[in-house]
Amino acid sequence: MFSEKLITRLKNAYTVTVLTGAGVSAESGVPTFRGKDGLWNNHSVEKLATLEALEKEPDLFWQFYKWRRELLKDIRPNLGHYALVDCENYFEEFTLITQNVDNLHTKAGSANPIELHGNITKNRCTNCNDLTPVNCIEEEKEVPKCNKCGSLIKPDIILFGEALSQPVLGKAQEAAAVCEVFISIGTSALVEPAASLPYIAKGNGAYLVEINPEKTPLTENVDEAVHLASSEALTNLVIILDRLR
Ligand code: APR
Ligand code: ZN
Repeated sequence: MFSEKLITRLKNAYTVTVLTGAGVSAESGVPTFRGKDGLWNNHSVEKLATLEALEKEPDLFWQFYKWRRELLKDIRPNLGHYALVDCENYFEEFTLITQNVDNLHTKAGSANPIELHGNITKNRCTNCNDLTPVNCIEEEKEVPKCNKCGSLIKPDIILFGEALSQPVLGKAQEAAAVCEVFISIGTSALVEPAASLPYIAKGNGAYLVEINPEKTPLTENVDEAVHLASSEALTNLVIILDRLR
């Protein structure tokens, strides 16, 4: 499953960085975005995940996000999420960067995941950045507005067309630049700026690994491609790391 070369690299690694995508949550029952039953396959849905939709059709926008939250309400972390929590114990510097907004890494116990695309379990004001707890708006029939300044609020996630938070992106780019091993897991490696992180790592000498049952545009550029589901690959990786200790 994993080459001797990777095992040696992990044995001697001080810093390891991981990037996760929707594929890691797929085994928790969370639909991916571009798979056969992907969320974005229904293009009108994709048009809703935008600031423009929030401004022009706030009712429809919030119906969509209340539906997405309903989908995510009862989901639980899977073995892949828990294996990534275990990985934190094997390396001096282990950084988890995620594109997922489903909060499953935090639910599983990962310390400080870098949430590049935000977190759907929080709400943020579009004007003053004030955070509003989800339960404060769940029952509301009206379009939720900021208690502080009265502006529109949105789930605390990056919408299509929105820029990422620079400090968050900077932290992720730094973790990619300094690591000795970079593992891209469950992502189609299509969406920037996350898709550039593996190349930053490789450009700085990291051993680049991809865990994904399918090929992606990244696959031909990695040092090692593991064509397995994330939970199977990661639980086996932790068994190997345990033996190395
Ligand atoms: N284990 C590992 N990988 C899997 C699994 C699994 N069990 N199931 C599916 N995959 C892979 C698919 O092969 C695919 O390459 O997960 C990937 C999911 O790709 P996308 O649906 O494009 O999701 P992601 O790469 O996370 O999308 C990035 O796009 O729309 C934005 O904000 C959204 O964060 C998201 C970003
Ligand atoms: Zn406000």
